[in-house]
Amino acid sequence: SVIDIRSLGKYGYFTYDPGFQATASCSSSITYIDGDRGLLYYRGYPIEQLAQHSDFIEVAYLLQYGELPSAEQKHHFDTTMRQHSMLHDQISNVFRGFRRDAHPMAVMVGVVGALSAFYHDSLDISDPRHREVSAFRLLAKVPTIAAWSYKYNIGQPFMYPQNRLGYVENFMYMMFATPCESYIANPVLVRALERIMILHADHEQNASTSTVRLAGSSGANPFACISAGIASLWGPAHGGANEAALAMLEEIGNVSRIGAFIERAKDKSDSFRLMGFGHRVYKNMDPRAAVMRETCHEVLDELGLNDDPLFKIARKLEQIALEDEYFVARKLYPNVDFYSGIVLRALGIPTNMFTAMFALARTAGWVAQWNEMIGDPENKIGRPRQLYVGDVRRDYVPVNKR
Ligand code: ACO
Repeated sequence: SVIDIRSLGKYGYFTYDPGFQATASCSSSITYIDGDRGLLYYRGYPIEQLAQHSDFIEVAYLLQYGELPSAEQKHHFDTTMRQHSMLHDQISNVFRGFRRDAHPMAVMVGVVGALSAFYHDSLDISDPRHREVSAFRLLAKVPTIAAWSYKYNIGQPFMYPQNRLGYVENFMYMMFATPCESYIANPVLVRALERIMILHADHEQNASTSTVRLAGSSGANPFACISAGIASLWGPAHGGANEAALAMLEEIGNVSRIGAFIERAKDKSDSFRLMGFGHRVYKNMDPRAAVMRETCHEVLDELGLNDDPLFKIARKLEQIALEDEYFVARKLYPNVDFYSGIVLRALGIPTNMFTAMFALARTAGWVAQWNEMIGDPENKIGRPRQLYVGDVRRDYVPVNKR
């Protein structure tokens, strides 16, 4: 039996919308998506233009402050990032509390949350200046935490951030340098990683961003809120899809086998789906997928991997699917994850770090969204309702009578 809560009168009416497919949880001026036309804008700027002309630090500034920075503002922001990239020395003890084979995302959830126990001097969230310092700390320290999560996982010593290096280059240094061997990043590969990070920096009210907002709506500690976002992102239906797309391309293994996989994806008795295809919001080409395809070309060219078999399979698969009635009718196009796994792999990023890379980039969006929410005078604690479908009132039965 069902109690229809609407009959209780005093609560009024509410919508029942599982998965929030038709519910706007907030108003925001950060990111605009038109899924039918395949448009994505950050603060009004098309993602294609930002990917081509901007760098990640500038995009992080844009998301945070709403405007592209002047040269001086950009320099100041960049310098501040460099100055905040060190972790409190005792945080290395937090890393050492994890099992040596812990997944980097598990470590990131824990260590980013643990920042709340270290930085107490920026926690008056009603003060915009305090919020800004927390934002700087998060943006600057998450690359160090991500790289150290990887180093811990493979048993190598932590590499300290280098103030002389830019944001993305510094991350690559902390990932790939060792005390025995330095690392000088290839500028083409740095540029490719910048692009991947720009493409992933924000995507309005997706699951992880909504998690950050919901956690933050109670006034919770900002570091803990971002940790909650990382936890949500970790799910295979969200941040894990590029890993799944890469695994699928590997499983296909040869262009001649594509047809069989397409048929499987169309077969309703088979749960298999083409990974990296389809999107909840985009019913047209995901604009990020086109940029990613181009980036994939550039990276493979640079590394002399033009004959990369997975890229060949991906291109052919895309071509076949885009002409297939099943995919056309359902408006299923490649999404950002279709090519990003191939690029990340070519950059030397291990598969178990793919979602961590996403978290690194999305921190820019999470922080901007959190800041926008806290600064909004209309902000209310998030409290969705439910449609109760449990038992109606019943009386307690003593254990000897059950
Ligand atoms: N392969 C084959 N068929 C598909 C696929 C796919 N990748 N995606 C959707 N369909 C079909 C469904 O079977 C359904 O068919 P039907 O109408 O005959 O029943 C129809 O298309 C609609 O599918 P829904 O699941 O209702 O679409 P929704 O918008 O809810 O799902 C999603 C979007 C979850 C992304 C889906 O397309 C999917 O599972 N894709 C593969 C996983 C993936 O790439 N995820 C990454 C998303 S991007 C990101 O997170 C950054």
